[in-house]
Amino acid sequence: MLPNPPKSALRELFPITKRYNYLNHAAVSPLPLPTLQAVEAQLKDVQENGSVNFRDWLDVKEQARQLLAGLLGARLEQVAFVRNTSDALSTVANGLTWKKGDNIVTFRGEFPSNIYPWLRIRDVFGVELRMCEERAGRIEFDDLAKLIDQHTRVVTISHVQFASGFRMDLERLGRLVRQHDALLVVDVIQALGVLPIDVQAELVDVAAGAGHKWLLAPEGVGYLYLSDRARERIQPTLVGWISVPQPEDLQNFEQGWRQGTLAWETGTGPAALMYGFKASLELLTALGVAQTARYLKQLTDHLCEGLQSKPYRVVSSRRSGEKSHIVCIYPIGGTSAMALYAHLKKQNIITAPRGDRLRIAPHVYNTHEEMDALVEALP
Ligand SMILES: Cc1ncc(COP(=O)(O)O)c(C=O)c1O
Repeated sequence: MLPNPPKSALRELFPITKRYNYLNHAAVSPLPLPTLQAVEAQLKDVQENGSVNFRDWLDVKEQARQLLAGLLGARLEQVAFVRNTSDALSTVANGLTWKKGDNIVTFRGEFPSNIYPWLRIRDVFGVELRMCEERAGRIEFDDLAKLIDQHTRVVTISHVQFASGFRMDLERLGRLVRQHDALLVVDVIQALGVLPIDVQAELVDVAAGAGHKWLLAPEGVGYLYLSDRARERIQPTLVGWISVPQPEDLQNFEQGWRQGTLAWETGTGPAALMYGFKASLELLTALGVAQTARYLKQLTDHLCEGLQSKPYRVVSSRRSGEKSHIVCIYPIGGTSAMALYAHLKKQNIITAPRGDRLRIAPHVYNTHEEMDALVEALP
C-alpha cells in the first residue's frame, strides 16, 4: 500500500479521475483499484475452487474487523458486520426495552435511516420522539441539550450531517447523555475514515454506518459498534447460526450468544465485498485518518474561499470544531440545486442536490485545481 503517496500516485488508484471531477463521496465513492482487484480475486476463487478456501474468507473478515475496530477506537468484539446503517440502527432500537413515558432525542435533519427506526418505536410503544431543529445550517448545542431529561433513553445523531456537513462535538454530547444515564447513538457513515473518532474517549455507545461513502468500499457492508454499557441494555433481536461462540457445533443449541456485539452477526455475509472493504480500509489506514482530515480541511477551506467570488451562500458551518469535509451551498440567485447539479454534470463535475442546497463532498484524492474548476463552472 501507499503511505503518504504523492497525489499523482494516489490518483492513479482512482480511474474515475480521468472521467470526472467527482465530488459526491457523501453518496457513493468510486472504488480504488486495489479494492476492485480484491473483490474480483475472491469471486475468482469461488469460481475456481468452490468452498475449498472458505477459511481464508473468514480470515479476511477478521482482518477487516481489526481495521474497522482500529478506525473506531473499539475492541474487536465490540464491532459486528451488518447489512447497512439502517439495519444497525433498527436492530438497536428494537433491542432496547421501552416503556411509556420514555423519550428519544434526535435532530430533524437526520438521514431517514436514523429516523424511521425511532418513529416505529414511538408508534408501537407510545414513546416520545423529540426533534431538535436546524438553525442556519447548524445544530445549536443548547437546543439539543434542552430536549434531554431524566426520561431520555437515547440521543441519536450523526457525527457529520449529510445535508449540511455540520460536525457534532460527540464528547461534549456524550458527557451530557451519560449524566442522564441515556445512550449516545451515532450515525458515523458521513465521517468514519476521514475524521478521527475514538468511541471510548468520546463516550459513544452505539456507532452505525456502512462502507460505500468515505470508507471507499463497495455497497453492501454495514457495521455496528456497541459499547459494553450499551450491550448491557440492548438485546440481539435478529440472530442466526453465527451468533453463537461455536457456529460449527451445529447441534449445540445451548451455547449462549457470542461475546459483545458479535452476537449481532446472523449468517453468511458478502465475502467478496468484505475483501473489498478490507482493501479500502488498508488504504485509508495507510494514508492516516488524521492526515486525510487535515488535507480535506485545507481543500474545503480553499473551496470556500473561492466561493466568495460567486453568488452562493455557504450553508455549512465553517467554525472550528463544526466544519467537515462536506460543503453545502445555497444559490442566492434563485437557481434550483437540481438545475445546478445538472449544469455541472454536463461538464463532468459530479455533486449532489440536497433540498435547496448543492452538496460538494471531495475525498483525499481530489485536488485544489478540481475545487477551482468547480467554482469556475458555477454560474
Ligand atoms: C447520514 C446517513 N446515514 C445513512 C445513510 C445510508 O444508510 P444505509 O447504509 O442504510 O443505506 C446515508 C446515505 O445514504 C446517510 O447520509
